[in-house]
Amino acid sequence: MNKITAAITAVGSYVPDFVMSNKVLETLVDTNDEWITSRTGIKERRILKEEGQGTSYLAIKAAQNLIERANIDPNEIDMVILATTTPDMPVAATGVYVASQIGATNAFAYDLQAACSSFLFGMSTAAAHIQSGRYKKILLIGADKMSSIIDYTDRSTCIIFGDGAGAVLFEPNEEGLGLQDEFLRSDGVGRDFLKIEAGGSIMPPSEETVKSRKHFVQQDGKTVFKYAVSGMADVSEKIMQRNNLTKEDVNWLVAHQANRRIIDATANRIGLEQEKVLVNIHRYGNTTSATLPLLLSDFESQLKKGDNLIFAAFGGGFTWGAIYLKWAYNKQ
Ligand SMILES: CC(C)(COP(=O)(O)OP(=O)(O)OC[C@H]1O[C@@H](n2cnc3c(N)ncnc32)[C@H](O)[C@@H]1OP(=O)(O)O)[C@@H](O)C(=O)NCCC(=O)NCCS
Repeated sequence: MNKITAAITAVGSYVPDFVMSNKVLETLVDTNDEWITSRTGIKERRILKEEGQGTSYLAIKAAQNLIERANIDPNEIDMVILATTTPDMPVAATGVYVASQIGATNAFAYDLQAACSSFLFGMSTAAAHIQSGRYKKILLIGADKMSSIIDYTDRSTCIIFGDGAGAVLFEPNEEGLGLQDEFLRSDGVGRDFLKIEAGGSIMPPSEETVKSRKHFVQQDGKTVFKYAVSGMADVSEKIMQRNNLTKEDVNWLVAHQANRRIIDATANRIGLEQEKVLVNIHRYGNTTSATLPLLLSDFESQLKKGDNLIFAAFGGGFTWGAIYLKWAYNKQ
């Protein structure tokens, strides 16, 4: 019997209808379209406006999109992993509710949090479960309602983030396709540079924490930028080297969409031309756990069976890493 590898066999996605353009942000904070475009590459992002709807709404829509596109029976799904930094509530796990709502009645589910690397780390977890032979269908969803934790009076963060969700299905493969290798890293030095200070066990919510806007994301953008550029470029180069991949062997770079300049720096380090770099940051901004599956969903028709994909991400914590995956199907 051939070795079992874990392949992505279906994708889906969802973004909310409301478009927040750079022009809209000009009315909220002291910024302008030219500055945002040249410093980040972002032109607009999607925002989930409707009251009472959280990350689960986005995740359910993305999962349903995958189920419809690939004609999957949700009863056959064994496990649902929801990669997210913005769960509906601190307790109970949002993925559990999502699994029930999409009819994955035979699955167990949970959430996985590693900031902007949540989906990448989730790929590792899902693939390991498939490779063990214990589970046959794992739905990995990346979803974040970043607008729920962003301060729209802070121009250093509100221009970057948006809401969205994407999903992939992992299944066993005996042709050697799917996840080939991973190089995942973390460093606690990062928690001072990108954080939400209040609402956790160190600083529970109080009138004071709300007044001082401590429930919103704060970041030292310059420092995060520096770590992100070197982190994502280092791991991408490393995973190519140890798999003897030249730039000609790589078909696609699937990089976390945090800042166009970080994506370009990663592509330059590994010598990849622009045509091989998947980019949709101009449309969605940084959707945290959703950037990687949103790319796969948007570019699915261009991905061919056997293509070599390098995934790379960087996030708060810090967390970062790269995954080398062989694409497993041609879209019908
Ligand atoms: C946030 C980020 C876009 C800022 O870009 P930058 O080129 O580093 O800009 P700086 O912070 O050095 O600011 C440069 C100037 O622009 C100003 N500025 C900051 N935000 C601005 C905005 N939205 N509009 C206009 N001007 C702005 C600053 O005040 C500063 O002015 P000064 O020179 O007079 O002090 C960039 O640092 C970044 O993308 N960091 C990584 C963030 C990230 O990826 N976070 C998620 C982790 S996955």
